[in-house]
Amino acid sequence: DERKRWEQARAAGERLLKAGKVGAILVAGGQGTRLGFDKPKGMFPIGALSHAPLFQILAHQLLGRSRRAAAPIPYFVMTSDATHHETVAFFREHKNFGLPAGDVFFFQQGNMPAVDAESGKLLVGSDQTLTTSPDGHGAMLTALAKSGLLAEMKRRGIEYLHYHQVDNPTAIVCDPVFLGFHAELGCDMSVKVVTKRSAAERMGVAVDVDGVTQIIEYSDLPLDIAQKTDSAGALLLWAGSTAIHVFTRAFLDRLVDHGDALPFHVAHKKVPYCDADGKAVNPQRENAYKFERFIFDALPLATRALVLETDRAREFNPVKNASGDDSPETARAALATLFHGWLRAAGAQIDDATPVEISPLFALDGEEVRAKVKPGTKFSEPTILN
Ligand code: UD1
Repeated sequence: DERKRWEQARAAGERLLKAGKVGAILVAGGQGTRLGFDKPKGMFPIGALSHAPLFQILAHQLLGRSRRAAAPIPYFVMTSDATHHETVAFFREHKNFGLPAGDVFFFQQGNMPAVDAESGKLLVGSDQTLTTSPDGHGAMLTALAKSGLLAEMKRRGIEYLHYHQVDNPTAIVCDPVFLGFHAELGCDMSVKVVTKRSAAERMGVAVDVDGVTQIIEYSDLPLDIAQKTDSAGALLLWAGSTAIHVFTRAFLDRLVDHGDALPFHVAHKKVPYCDADGKAVNPQRENAYKFERFIFDALPLATRALVLETDRAREFNPVKNASGDDSPETARAALATLFHGWLRAAGAQIDDATPVEISPLFALDGEEVRAKVKPGTKFSEPTILN
């Protein structure tokens, strides 16, 4: 039955981790404009009590997972011109959050110039250089190949890569169940999905087009199509992409050999520029086009692809906006619910008003909490379990 299949997948994933066949890719090259935080998003303090930054929560998950498996799990962190120096300095300052220096690799994606929406001409900024922006996480393929890291993965015997974004502290980094299903089913690429909250929610959707699995980005999906429902009133395109993937390394190699296999998507954006008289202009309306490649466009190129539905409350609580939905506030609330739930399931006493934080180095999941916290333990003060 279903539970047995999940347990088998977990065991398979754990074997891969123990054998040192797994690496992790973090994409952290985005500019994070929506959050309004002027540093790389990974530096954003998200821990309610510890103020642990997103980078730390993700890196500590990896460290916890690697300790549990008693095997190294190298971390491949993608940055861009917009985030590289600060990110590298931040990891250095925090001693790689405890990860061995030899297991942390930074690689930098490229840039694409922005063009004027009307004339199609390249835009120049106030510093008289071309206006550019990061070329999308699809650029990861070229960047991994150029930096020699694809070869490094191969040399280390890495066969599978867990991929996650910097904005989701509840992504289960190197989830053995996900890795196990992916490998057992012989997939090239997998994606975890959750039910979209509403038609307008800004998530890509996993769809099946003539038997080929692909993800359509929200910016490419007309609202009237996103709003279509079945006879029961549920969204037809419900499977929102969490942007959590597993890749088979050999598949990444194949994509690179294909050259520029991924298409560019066009975004209409406000881009400050310098006009013909050399005057700086800060446009009030969208004036330019930017170009980005998306890694999930590799999905239809996979010989076999897995779409795995998962629990939204447990695994998808991203920090996207400064307030409202998908904000630091909602992510912190989700973490609190998670930690309270783990403690109560272990038989501890804690009420909702008592803040508690569980470091991934203390426990990666409810089971580990159960092994470490005695039933009846009372939490009445704000507590960080480290
Ligand atoms: C993204 C996905 C969307 C998914 C949602 C889930 C894209 C294009 N869309 O939307 O399908 O449902 O997350 O949360 O990714 N990044 C880079 N380099 C870049 C651009 C982005 O590394 O050039 C990284 C960012 O640092 C971030 C991630 O990619 O970790 C997502 O970027 P973002 O632009 O925030 O995507 P969303 O619009 O939130």
